[in-house]
Parts: sequence; structure tokens; C-alpha cells
Amino acid sequence: MQVGSEPVQTELRAASYDQAWVEEAPVALLIAGVEERTAREYGARAGELYVPMEAGHVGENIHLQVESLGLATVSVGGFEDTAVADVMGFEDERPLAIYPIGQRAD
Ligand SMILES: Cc1cc2nc3c(=O)[nH]c(=O)nc-3n(C[C@H](O)[C@H](O)[C@H](O)COP(=O)(O)O)c2cc1C
Repeated sequence: MQVGSEPVQTELRAASYDQAWVEEAPVALLIAGVEERTAREYGARAGELYVPMEAGHVGENIHLQVESLGLATVSVGGFEDTAVADVMGFEDERPLAIYPIGQRAD
């Protein structure tokens, strides 16, 4: 699903308590989920456990791949859900994590 074609990292930074790396990283991956879809199969545990668990699995793979490429990332969970959703034009999706990716500082 394409939600837009304009850069949004400045707005994403503002929605993430002004964390500079969210804007300054050359690329930032945002993981989002639609809990209702998983809840159709798994009920209430979908939202409270399974969807965040899956986001964690995705995040771990991002960390591993980024490390293997000699780059750097950090899991960003500090953001305002509704502000991020507004920036991204989400309707049903819930933002779960942001991974800014860039060169290592050292
Ligand atoms: C669920 C979760 C959310 C996090 N959110 C943020 C965040 O919003 N901003 C940030 O700079 N780091 C965030 N971190 C990264 C931690 O601050 C820390 O850098 C990372 O867990 C590695 O810690 P360590 O170096 O002590 O092992 C988050 C980590 C986790 C696991």
C-alpha cells in the first residue's frame, strides 16, 4: 500500500518526541500492523500479544541485516501513535516501531 510519495521524516521526528535520528537517518523503516485482521483468527490475544510479537520478530531481523551490512539502527518505540498515524495517513494501521538506518557513528 502506497501512502504517499513525499518525504515525511521531519513530521515523523516531531511525532516521535523530537528524536533527531528519526529525521536524520537516510532511511527509516516503520512497522505497522492491523490488529483486527489477526484478531479475526486469534481473538483478543492478537492485539495484546501476537501483533506486537510479530513486530518484534521483524525488528530483530532488521537489526541482524543492518548489522551484517555494517550499518546502524535503533528500535524506536517512543512516539505518539495518533500523531504517527496522521503523518502516515493510516486508517486501520497501528504504528508499532520505527527503525532509522544509517552509517555507524564510530
Ligand atoms: C521496545 C523498545 C523501544 C525503544 N524505543 C527507543 C526510542 O524511542 N528511542 C531510542 O533512542 N531508543 C529506543 N530503544 C532503544 C534502547 O534505548 C536501547 O538503545 C537499546 O535497547 C539497546 O540498549 P543497550 O545498548 O543497553 O543494550 C528502544 C528499545 C526497545 C527494546
